[in-house]
Amino acid sequence: MEKLLTWIDARFPLTKVWNEHLAKYYAPKNFNFWYYFGSLALLVLVMQIVTGIFLAMHYKPDTERAFASVEYIMRDVPWGWLLRYMHSTGASLFFVAIYLHMFRALLYGSYRAPRELVWLLGMVLFVALMAESFTGYLLPWGNMSYWGAQVIISLFGAIPLIGDGLAEWIRGDFVVSDATLNRFYSFHIVAIPLVIIGLVYMHIVALHRVGSNNPDGIEIKKNKDKDGVPLDGIPFHPYYSVKDMVGVTVFLMIFSAIVFFAPELGGWFLEHDNFVPANILQTPPEIVPLWYLTPFYSILRAVTIDIGPVPAKLLGVLSMGSAIGLFFFLPWLDRSPVRSIRYRGWMYKTALSLFAISFVMLGYLGTQRPEGPNLILAQIAFVIYFAFFLLMPWYTKYDKTKPEPDRVT
Ligand code: HEM
Repeated sequence: MEKLLTWIDARFPLTKVWNEHLAKYYAPKNFNFWYYFGSLALLVLVMQIVTGIFLAMHYKPDTERAFASVEYIMRDVPWGWLLRYMHSTGASLFFVAIYLHMFRALLYGSYRAPRELVWLLGMVLFVALMAESFTGYLLPWGNMSYWGAQVIISLFGAIPLIGDGLAEWIRGDFVVSDATLNRFYSFHIVAIPLVIIGLVYMHIVALHRVGSNNPDGIEIKKNKDKDGVPLDGIPFHPYYSVKDMVGVTVFLMIFSAIVFFAPELGGWFLEHDNFVPANILQTPPEIVPLWYLTPFYSILRAVTIDIGPVPAKLLGVLSMGSAIGLFFFLPWLDRSPVRSIRYRGWMYKTALSLFAISFVMLGYLGTQRPEGPNLILAQIAFVIYFAFFLLMPWYTKYDKTKPEPDRVT
């Protein structure tokens, strides 16, 4: 084995990469629960790719045959039902992992210098993941697939002058059709996954360049021993590779429970209206995306009034775009002298709690009819959502923080 390794090392930097990124990569010793979700996102990404490859062997991207090919996978392809349920459950749990992963960054200020690029690459990943799930959702050619795509693509029509042409260009037709299904298929199985894999690689390279943040939000590189090893760091392998296995085990238990006992999860992971084939003559009673996109969908629908010459629909689209876009600016909106919530004052704690509540509320309200009290609640949550970002430079500057410790606690 040693001879083989020497042979490989002379031709490929295997030991070097192993040491730099695992055996001699020193991560802070105080990682907690919130640090499981990066590796879990990686795990789900691999599962989505593997199950996706096998699904693509049996799926037909043709409006005449797509719906039936999915039913064929479910009933006739050996283990096909498992592939499909793993893929649909994986899609939702990917977003569970990602939302918790992002929330961790808000808790501990992980987006702050010097990790801005890690954060920005993460945000581009988030947008790519939304595109990936949106294009994937059209493929089963159910009635919600069809109308969901119709509604979201027609949003581009709200853009002045070029809007209608742009929407038609995206669809490849005047309505969502075979041309749309074909292009969504190639984006879903080739283009976007390639982008995601490339981005994940850069995300991790950027993280390893600066090193991980931690729940105390302090730099472990400030205190090193005589060999240059951070005093509060431990080698990623074996310490965190083993810890991550615990996360993987618990995650797979939850994942299997859903796949085997409740794959539709009451309509939250697979919507009822998508068990009906796409019908251009019958709109579902309520057109809603899956739960992970509803917070943004709610923001879109919360805008109901025209402002001057700007129509409500355009304002809604712009608000939805800014709701995602503002996340990119977090590293520069936050002016606090400390990173972690542990040492921040009541202002940031209140702001973050209100933001989290408003995000969940928007998510739920996005699945309900936007009328009466629901609409008013969504509008209140809308205001809190934007206030979190827009007032951040102010409340993080004036918040009364506690002194950070010198070493991790
Ligand atoms: C496919 C999606 C993603 C994968 C596979 C992924 C993977 C990872 C991994 C393995 C880590 C190191 C372990 C950890 O800190 O949990 C990490 C760290 C990080 N990720 Fe992601 N990530 C993804 C998406 C995102 C997104 C959407 C964001 C936010 C916009 C983000 C922001 C961060 C930040 C700020 C860190 C550093 C955290 C710290 O050191 O405290 N990532 N990511």
